[in-house]
Amino acid sequence: MVDLIQKKRDGEQLTTEEIQFIVEGYTNGTIPDYQVSAWLMAVYFQNMTEKERADLTMAMVASGDQIDLRAIEGVKVDKHSTGGVGDTTTLVLGPLVAAAGVPVAKMSGRGLGHTGGTIDKLEAIEGFHVEITNEQFIELVNKNKIAIIGQSGNLTPADKKLYSLRDVTATVNSIPLIASSIMSKKIAAGADAIVLDVKTGAGAFMKTLEDSRELAKAMVNIGNNVGRKTMAVISDMSQPLGFAIGNALEVKEAIDTLKGEGPEDLTELCLVLGSHMVYAAGKADTLEEARQTLLKLINNGEALAKFKLFIEAQGGDGSVVDHPERLPQAKYQIELPAKNDGWVAEIIADHVGTAAMWLGAGRATKESEIDLAVGMMLNKKIGASVKAGESLATIYSNDKEIEHVKEELYRSIILSEEKVESPRLIHEEITD
Ligand code: URA
Ligand code: CA
Repeated sequence: MVDLIQKKRDGEQLTTEEIQFIVEGYTNGTIPDYQVSAWLMAVYFQNMTEKERADLTMAMVASGDQIDLRAIEGVKVDKHSTGGVGDTTTLVLGPLVAAAGVPVAKMSGRGLGHTGGTIDKLEAIEGFHVEITNEQFIELVNKNKIAIIGQSGNLTPADKKLYSLRDVTATVNSIPLIASSIMSKKIAAGADAIVLDVKTGAGAFMKTLEDSRELAKAMVNIGNNVGRKTMAVISDMSQPLGFAIGNALEVKEAIDTLKGEGPEDLTELCLVLGSHMVYAAGKADTLEEARQTLLKLINNGEALAKFKLFIEAQGGDGSVVDHPERLPQAKYQIELPAKNDGWVAEIIADHVGTAAMWLGAGRATKESEIDLAVGMMLNKKIGASVKAGESLATIYSNDKEIEHVKEELYRSIILSEEKVESPRLIHEEITD
């Protein structure tokens, strides 16, 4: 290990076997934290070649379980977002592309954050559950084209261990390490093709377009170098996507979007990502044809019908589709009146997310309980003109005393005296 640290420190390329040695040794405990820390710092400064990145990814994939989706017919396309606030796309995209015939075999987690994960959100629907066997999961995807199951306990243990170590050694922010970390999880989960939604802007992991582009390219290269067709869309996170932030609120927003009545930005992003998924699955000859197919499935009700089928197949109350009032409801709706006239210039997404978490929409620690009913609806997005006293957002709360939440939202939603343009939603698309 000393030799390998030195080799990387001096800017040389490690071989496949050498990378496997490090990842295996760290996972099984024969290489100590302090040596891997030194190696990570060397990677941070010296970077990794394309080949090393692919090798690191596959070594992490090999460190744990790999999900075998071969029993599912068709090209399994997975979507991954680098994380935003109020990102309802997964809830919309699953049923939407499934309606187009793309098999959606989704594995999802709960995790920490501003709101719950996809499974938490879906559990806002009475009866819905993900406690199904692997056999049931595969059967459901073959029958309905869509099912969701909880994450296996032993997916990419090497990534878990390395990520924790990076967290305490100032080596999280390294493109080769981030890209291989994300891609290893997607590949271990069995995807044949991967569509990445790389967020950019104040609320995103990557704040500048330049950094987002570099991360997107790194992931696209890894995917294609290991035989998984991969492409990326760089999308805006200079404000939350859609209007809803919160679990039940986002389920309602997803239903609206599947009906063709959703927010413009969320709808457009779902059409763009969805078109790439349909195209990658070979269900359309061009992206434009894929887009037209998706629009038709929204307009003729098939996308919504697919959502209902999916919910009912996993024990959920499908009637929420027509009766969203059957989703958990918060006791209070509290408006956030604008303090002066102007235009909305910024909505700092991660701060809005923090405010949602304080209401109880997300977990601060693994043990926290989520309140599925709470969150907020943004009434004004960037570029909107506002009069003093008009509501910027509606807060859904089970607690009346929420001054701290309101203050955080006032700090997050910044007004300008001059007119502001709304930001561009899709910045770039990166393919092989
Ligand atoms: N998300 C991941 O999964 N891994 C990283 O390294 C960073 C963000
Ligand atoms: Ca949203």
